[in-house]
Amino acid sequence: MDGDVKKRIEELRQQLHAHGHCYYVLDTPVISDGEYDSLFQELLHLEEDYPESVTVDSPTQRVGGKPLKGFKVAEHLYPMLSLDNIFSKQGLLDFEGKLQRYLKRDTVLEYITEPKLDGLAVELVYENDRLVTGSTRGDGLIGEDITAQLKTVPTIPLRLLATEEVAIPQQLIVRGEVFIPKKGFKLLNQQRKEEGGALFANARNAAAGSLRQLDPRVTAQRPLHFFAYSVATTEEVQCSGQFELLAYLRSLGFAVSPLVHHCPSIGDVGRQYDLLVQKRHELDYEIDGMVVKVNRFSLHQRFGNTARAPRWAVAWKFPAIQASTIIERVEFQVGRTGVVTPVAHLRPVEVDGAVVQRATLHNRDEINKKDLRLHDTVLVQRAGDVIPEVIKAVVEKRTGQEAAIVFPERCPDCDGQLEQAEGEVAIRCTNLLCPAQKIQRLIYFAGKSGLDIEGLGKKYVEQLYSAGLVEDIADFFLLEEKQLALLEGWGAKSAHGVIASIGKVKAPYLNTFLRALGIRYVGEVTAELLTGHYESLGELALSKEKDLMEIEGIGPQVAESLVTFLRSEPFANLLVKLGQAGVTIQSPIKSQQPLGGRTFVFTGSLENMSRSEAKQLVKTLGGKVVSAISGKVTDVVAGEKAGGKLEKARTLGLGLLTEEAFVGLIKDLQGR
Ligand code: IVH
Repeated sequence: MDGDVKKRIEELRQQLHAHGHCYYVLDTPVISDGEYDSLFQELLHLEEDYPESVTVDSPTQRVGGKPLKGFKVAEHLYPMLSLDNIFSKQGLLDFEGKLQRYLKRDTVLEYITEPKLDGLAVELVYENDRLVTGSTRGDGLIGEDITAQLKTVPTIPLRLLATEEVAIPQQLIVRGEVFIPKKGFKLLNQQRKEEGGALFANARNAAAGSLRQLDPRVTAQRPLHFFAYSVATTEEVQCSGQFELLAYLRSLGFAVSPLVHHCPSIGDVGRQYDLLVQKRHELDYEIDGMVVKVNRFSLHQRFGNTARAPRWAVAWKFPAIQASTIIERVEFQVGRTGVVTPVAHLRPVEVDGAVVQRATLHNRDEINKKDLRLHDTVLVQRAGDVIPEVIKAVVEKRTGQEAAIVFPERCPDCDGQLEQAEGEVAIRCTNLLCPAQKIQRLIYFAGKSGLDIEGLGKKYVEQLYSAGLVEDIADFFLLEEKQLALLEGWGAKSAHGVIASIGKVKAPYLNTFLRALGIRYVGEVTAELLTGHYESLGELALSKEKDLMEIEGIGPQVAESLVTFLRSEPFANLLVKLGQAGVTIQSPIKSQQPLGGRTFVFTGSLENMSRSEAKQLVKTLGGKVVSAISGKVTDVVAGEKAGGKLEKARTLGLGLLTEEAFVGLIKDLQGR
């Protein structure tokens, strides 16, 4: 390739990047579509003639290449957290109150408000200005690698815009939301209707479905858009707060929501919320609330995160949207823990853009409290992702034809005995061998909250169970292709696909596996807490209730439920069977945990920070905090007036730190 061609190729790429940015991000095109196309075609032809010149960030690479074989996993270097929700002005005041108590003083906190985009969170990793990996949130620690799909989204820069004023770190991890604007969603569904395809329930599902296309060429046909709203770590960027960060991201070529506001006080936050509620329906994309973030990054550090969400931000959700319809019948479903849940089948009704036909009635008390009856006209509400809810009966519409909703006397599935534990609203089937419970556990294990086995949705698990192929979760790993291929509705191809996806989840991480077991009270958050303290299932199985309760966030109920489960005979048998089936559980990934393996005790009073603040710092950095001195403790931080514990620590020869040394250690670890 001669020098001139090379130069021209580079020139074309530069121009196309710049024009693409003007068109997609700034929404102010400088050249006509036709001119853009002709530059694009010229580059495409040159690249065809000189294939060795094609680079990953060339504008021609937006429309992805060949279909991929399933998705690879992508680990997040820093966990992708969620947000806690608030629903009212009072919730907002409580949020600020908590922050101020944490700071131990009445500081005026400044905030940034942003629309809460109702799409899909993704992470984009840039190395030396180039987009190298794009992934979904997944379980927060591990997502799917959808780099090829994300590269087709026009508002995602393949290369960061370099300017003289702004420094770009060697690695930059940007996070934001991918969504489909309302107009694009309408057109997409219209098109699918014409082609006789299934319609997407809402824009969010359409965006999710589009990104999960194995063939990025399909993704490229979808009107996807991206807004950036954060970075994985603020240490690499020279910004003092969220507002500056957003401006910085904009300068690098990202689209950032124009509805971001800097609020000097909490009162301004309230006003922005009222304005956004009014504006909501004028926007061309779906938002389901407003995110409120403390502006200053130094404060983010101090407040830290819980296992699930940062303390320095909340999502203020919009009021739900309601509609009225009729309860046509009520079905009683038995869940994986035996709870019998009444589910109302409704006359289909559209609520805020989605068709609702079923709603949970929660439990018997709830039905009684709301005095709901069969054939009642009811008000249903849907808020974001939440399962639709029946708010109340419209009593004025009663005709006298309504009938009482009768809760069954025995398990609707196995006819086993039902029981209501004291102080609980739930009514459970007590038969541990109840087939409905077994099936639900299997569905849960294979489903999104479990190991997420591709191709093994609810219907298929039910089919495998009725065919006698799976009784417990280990059976999934013993399935053979030829058994599946013989099932009704299956063929060699789908059998092959499912066996392959089962193979992919044969070595789950401990937290994923724990969560997938569906133990009562042990969901994602608890599983996460446990893996911060236990490396293996074997180690966990040997723990006692009192050990578990030393972990902050684990109470007696959870501890009891866990110990009962892990010590039970069926579980021991299951472990053996899983081992025989070749399942190996991996110890959790510990990213960014410099204090991993160290256990702290605090004694005496601290001068420069509160005890809870200090504890949080240790936990954020991966360390454990306990209250009693024992041989397992590695560090004892002794403040003013430390007493008996300090003496005991001395006798045991444990590592002692003054408050000052502790602060120094933390600063070192945080690289400050
Ligand atoms: S900040 C650690 N900002 O809301 C901070 N999230 O409920 C978390 N979301 O998973 C992200 N708009 O998908 C942030 N302006 C915004 C957002 C936003 C939408 C989503 C995001 C996240 C979810 C948490």
